[in-house]
Amino acid sequence: MKTLLRSALLACFSSALLVSAISYDDVIQAPRRSEAVPNKSGTLAVYTETSYSFSTRAWSGALKTIALEAGAEPKTVIADAADVGDLAWAGSDDATVLYLNTSGEYTALWSVDVGSGAKAKIYEFPGSVSLLKTHASAAGVRVVTSGWATPAGELLSPDAPAKEDTGLLYDSTFVRHWDYWLSENRKSVFGLLLSADLKTVKEPLTNYLKGLGIESPIMPFPSASDFDLAADKLVVNAKAPELSPANNTATYFYVLKYTDTNEPGKPLNKAGLGACSSPVFSPDATKIAGLVMLENGYESDQNIVYVYDLNDGGAGKNVTYGRAFDRSPGAVMWAPDREDYLVLVGEDVGKEVVWTLDISTPGLLPQKLSTTHSVSSVAFIGSSTAKLLLSSSAIVKSTYFEIYDHATDSATLLLDAPTTLPESRVGEFWFTGSREVKVHGFIVYPENFDPKKKYPLAFLIHGGPQSAWTDSWSTRWNPAVWADNGPDGYVVVTINPTGSTSYGKEFTDKIQNNWGSYPYIDLVLGLEYCYKSFEFIDTERMIAAGASYGGYMINWIQGSALGRVFKALVTHDGVFSTLNQYGSEELYFPAHDFGGSFVENTRGYYKFNPMNRMYHWATPHFIVHNALDYRLPESEGLLAFNVLQELGVPSKLLHFPDENHWVLKPDNSRRWHKEIFEFINTYSSASASTKRSGAGETKTAAQILEEVVDNVEREIFF
Ligand SMILES: *[C@@H]1O[C@H](CO)[C@@H](O)[C@H](O)[C@H]1NC(C)=O
Ligand SMILES: *[C@@H]1O[C@H](CO)[C@@H](O)[C@H](O)[C@H]1NC(C)=O
Ligand SMILES: *[C@@H]1O[C@H](CO)[C@@H](O)[C@H](O)[C@H]1NC(C)=O
Ligand SMILES: *[C@@H]1O[C@H](CO)[C@@H](O)[C@H](O)[C@H]1NC(C)=O
Repeated sequence: MKTLLRSALLACFSSALLVSAISYDDVIQAPRRSEAVPNKSGTLAVYTETSYSFSTRAWSGALKTIALEAGAEPKTVIADAADVGDLAWAGSDDATVLYLNTSGEYTALWSVDVGSGAKAKIYEFPGSVSLLKTHASAAGVRVVTSGWATPAGELLSPDAPAKEDTGLLYDSTFVRHWDYWLSENRKSVFGLLLSADLKTVKEPLTNYLKGLGIESPIMPFPSASDFDLAADKLVVNAKAPELSPANNTATYFYVLKYTDTNEPGKPLNKAGLGACSSPVFSPDATKIAGLVMLENGYESDQNIVYVYDLNDGGAGKNVTYGRAFDRSPGAVMWAPDREDYLVLVGEDVGKEVVWTLDISTPGLLPQKLSTTHSVSSVAFIGSSTAKLLLSSSAIVKSTYFEIYDHATDSATLLLDAPTTLPESRVGEFWFTGSREVKVHGFIVYPENFDPKKKYPLAFLIHGGPQSAWTDSWSTRWNPAVWADNGPDGYVVVTINPTGSTSYGKEFTDKIQNNWGSYPYIDLVLGLEYCYKSFEFIDTERMIAAGASYGGYMINWIQGSALGRVFKALVTHDGVFSTLNQYGSEELYFPAHDFGGSFVENTRGYYKFNPMNRMYHWATPHFIVHNALDYRLPESEGLLAFNVLQELGVPSKLLHFPDENHWVLKPDNSRRWHKEIFEFINTYSSASASTKRSGAGETKTAAQILEEVVDNVEREIFF
């Protein structure tokens, strides 16, 4: 109750919305905030806030600033900012923000004075670009972005004439990726130099990768962390050009000049490593820090922090002592004033946390800062290391901003989230899983939760499989939305089984060749733990849902006796047959997870295949599969649905022709939630028939679960 009151008070001061329950319409329409980016002197931060409205079917947005001091109120600088794409401080003064205006076919660079709100168009690109980084120096303001480059190295023009036919011909693997088919165009890094007053173009738009045969930023999730700028050079991260992109994850860091006549040169990181990421220049640009995976072909290998010394021929050394630091940071940055001090951001036990790393003292491991919930981005405030601006979120909160102070090792709230639920809505628990290892999970309670009542359970399983449920906000698979939906609400349980990230390398790696075993056993034991520990769970009204690998696991469960403990199942873009994984695009992924290529180790693909157990499928099942999902092609959903229909199992198929592995369009997301919740609510409602489907029809769910627990080793390691 105390928490509730305090949050309510905060809500008045920061115009945040404290709600006791949340619907999917609320979450989809609620303001979505970007990270907050402070100006150089550290007195003011800029961010955007965009919202979608179902009534206008349009996005609106605002560009806002907030002073970095207690009690500050946000100020709207641009009220109609729906077209504002990426932004960055110009850096030449402390008042100008540059942003990409994406309203037309040709992206334009605009500036805004955050004091007066005066904005101006500075430059129109000859095509569409995204991502923005700036670097101010004596020469002027360097502006760097990315877009599709034609084989001639030009930015792809929207006016390029259409081809006569639409045929695409290939002679090597990797013909499509995520949601697009490969063409002759490649992503590239383009930039220009403006005068300090932003009034003249001093160096025209240049493709810095022209003729190099490399592609950056790296698809399918191009990120500004794939390049970084110094006064006279940039560093880009690109996949190893001599290796098959379908078979390899290896990437290289290239240090390049701001010209279109670069020689490929020798990449910084030596060949033989895996995926590298996040190359960043030190303040005096004599060093580059970056994250390095040692194993090629394994996209979820541990990131190790490396520092390359450009004064020493680019020699690299790891500064986290190999694997002594058993976490895998996702981002690295330098302090603004020191050549020996880094900040790392990454997952740690179901949260996103921040570490500092002093590399001047040999043997020192990263030091974790005391932060709340999950930190999604960090920026130094001003030129010292004393304070950090954190952009964070939680299961119960969308993005909020905090100021972290090293002196007290604590953070104070700067701006509360637009959407906030009571902290009491979330709990955590641990249980003993497979191999006697401790496994972690979250429990999310419905609105007005009363532990003396009984609630249906929604058991959600994450994808990846090397990923995790974290204490962070999401507009897709938001556990609080599942908890508050349905006539009685749901108690929602999200478990991080073997294969999950944030619990150390061994726990993540252990899923290799074991998709259907250790994680499955963890989920069985986790479910048993919940039903024995939480009396408010009505075991006769449980549903389970998952996407991607989570959908694989739902299909795997459907074929097991465990499938019978659930009243309904939901598979979103899941795997029906692991054999079909070789119809995917990043072939290194099944090759790593199933112990070799399809040809080399076919048995590895048969081992834990949901299709093998389809004869037992009996529980009502909702299938979603989208046309633009090239990671798990739509035939996976069609196969599952056709089999369910043939077996006479109550089932539905929801298909979006214009969505990929994820449902991103707001109106589609609304439909997704509506159809899924209608389906699961039908089977989990108090009035629904208690009759079970399939083999266990005369037993209670608890009896079946006990049998599954007793037999699980035999079931899996037959
Ligand atoms: C974006 O560009 C369009 C077309 O020039 C203009 O009307 C609009 O005001 C611009 N929006 C912003 C936020 O700069
Ligand atoms: C940071 O930006 C604000 C707004 O432009 C400006 O007033 C302030 O002077 C800047 N910080 C400092 C200390 O210069
Ligand atoms: C990709 O990997 C497979 C399996 O190891 C191998 O047979 C094939 O030659 C590789 N292709 C390329 C282009 O390296
Ligand atoms: C990292 O550095 C430590 C010592 O500084 C060394 O023992 C270890 O082999 C290095 N590991 C890698 C992967 O470079």
